Amino acid sequence: MSPTTTTTEVAIVGAGPAGLMLAHLLQRAGIDSIAIDIRDRAAIESTHRAGILEQDSVRLLVESGVSERVLRDGYRHAGIDLAFGGGGHRIDFEALVGASVQLYPQTDVFVDLADARARDGGDVRFGVGDVSVADLTTDRPLLRFTDADGVPNEVGARILVGADGSRSICRHEFPEARRRQFFREYPFAWFGILCEAPPSSEELIYSHSERGFALISQRTESLQRMYSQCDPAEDVADWSDDRIWEELQARVGANGYVLKEGPITSTTVLPFRSFVQEPMRHGNLVLAGDAAHTVPPTGAKGLNLALADVRVLAEELELHLAGDDGALDRYAERALRRVWRAQHFSYWMTTMLHRLPDASDFDVRRQVGELTSIVSSTAGSTYLAEGYTGWPS
Ligand code: PHB
Repeated sequence: MSPTTTTTEVAIVGAGPAGLMLAHLLQRAGIDSIAIDIRDRAAIESTHRAGILEQDSVRLLVESGVSERVLRDGYRHAGIDLAFGGGGHRIDFEALVGASVQLYPQTDVFVDLADARARDGGDVRFGVGDVSVADLTTDRPLLRFTDADGVPNEVGARILVGADGSRSICRHEFPEARRRQFFREYPFAWFGILCEAPPSSEELIYSHSERGFALISQRTESLQRMYSQCDPAEDVADWSDDRIWEELQARVGANGYVLKEGPITSTTVLPFRSFVQEPMRHGNLVLAGDAAHTVPPTGAKGLNLALADVRVLAEELELHLAGDDGALDRYAERALRRVWRAQHFSYWMTTMLHRLPDASDFDVRRQVGELTSIVSSTAGSTYLAEGYTGWPS
């Protein structure tokens, strides 16, 4: 079958939140795009991801006109509890840095953006196959794919964007001699649950304990999200509801909290990994979001970083398409500055709160010392509050 050929200005590989937000921002700037994804919409909607939006992520949704649900259904959180050494200590974001975050799941951000694309007549193709990109260093790079009806497509664009997540095909298009990959593996993972119960706390509890880390998050008045540190090879089948509750209660109970229990409706093991690929641009291909960088989930930075990338990328693409030759490199530089700050923040939160498998008593006490410094120093608490609520771009 001969391919259907079309042209556009920006062809985006990946129609998750980063790809869709980029397409949305470009349309508002009068720039034509197509976004494709190998997953179908239902598969993306049913993947549970983190739930905290930094204040600038919320602002981006508000300023670009996709904030009806996040403002109505999200929950504003003006702080978190750090729990360790037998008690809880509130970090008051509002008082420390005059900022807050919004509890609103990534899946809902995706739904809002996908609905906005459909409403605005955006060209988004879910469930495509055979995706490839070519001619990246020419002024007419190509995107090829087979659409959900089996029709081969070839799209000529001015710029290709790889927003295709942590299993990105686009990042492998960077010649090995011209890319560097930075990795960090962790010897633990998160056992994540959703449960039907009332909230156990109004804000998130990040709980350090001798038994390992636990995070108490929420979703709605009747649905809660919780995580506990586990072995990366942990098999969810080995964990009955009773055993899960016993472990969670023991971890937060060491710090004086009691959880409200209820039926567990979902269990998953989330891997931990830090990753960056540099540079984020090769010829007329640029990367955005998880395609270029992954953070461990402890600071909830993944989606926020992806949104920060595409906010900057939309600005610089507009300049590039208007003839500014420095714009794509400027995107890569601006994005990477924030990426490495977030890499450090996520790594810091992770290593301060989790128990290494071979941790000694010294290591655990030292972590309690570090946490005590954070909560008892205005400078320490402010540092955490700034990073958590998000740095200005
Ligand atoms: C979540 O609610 O899923 C969540 C919140 C905060 C994190 C990670 C995940 O740091």
